[in-house]
Amino acid sequence: MKQFNPKPWFLPQTVIIIGTYDEDGTPNAMNAAWAGTWDNDKIMISMGNHQTTLNLNRCPDFTVAFATKETLVASDYVGIISGRKAKDKVAQTGWTAVKGEKVNAPVFTDFPMTMECRIERKIDESATGYYIVADILNIQVKEEYLAEDGKPDVEKMHLITFDPVHLGYLEIGQRVGNAFKDGAQLK
Ligand SMILES: Cc1cc2nc3c(=O)[nH]c(=O)nc-3n(C[C@H](O)[C@H](O)[C@H](O)COP(=O)(O)O)c2cc1C
Repeated sequence: MKQFNPKPWFLPQTVIIIGTYDEDGTPNAMNAAWAGTWDNDKIMISMGNHQTTLNLNRCPDFTVAFATKETLVASDYVGIISGRKAKDKVAQTGWTAVKGEKVNAPVFTDFPMTMECRIERKIDESATGYYIVADILNIQVKEEYLAEDGKPDVEKMHLITFDPVHLGYLEIGQRVGNAFKDGAQLK
């Protein structure tokens, strides 16, 4: 085994797009990979100091869209360009923004699935950002991405994951097993 010093190489990493409104109501979006589940109805995000952070300090509402192969280029764009410098950066993505059902934040309808969230807690707040714990208030899924049982069909979504080692995006592939079940073969 080759040994490496500590690096943020936790695998696999999500690619989420955080949607907020600027002070004047313009939709903004940013890419985040350091995020995950906190509890059954809560998520966490490691948030730096961005335009999004300013927006969240003013209003705790935001959306989380899960990035796909089809939205990859624009998803990366919103991760390298700040709304602080590029006013209305979302216009450049070509995405369509509509107001959330439960939160005062934009839902980008180009994504299969979007969570509507509200900050419940900020942890270790400093000039460089904070860790967000947020309540999931609603989940929107486009009809064409539903499975026969009426729930989201993750396999249909072409979701991407961030490779922090070689700075790439990988497409999430096919279902290869059954959770809480296949392990029983070894009982
Ligand atoms: C692949 C990728 C992952 C990123 N992950 C995070 C993250 O987890 N947390 C964070 O604060 N910024 C992250 N960023 C950086 C922000 O997306 C970036 O600074 C963005 O321009 C902020 O936009 P804003 O200033 O308009 O809010 C990531 C960027 C990329 C490209």
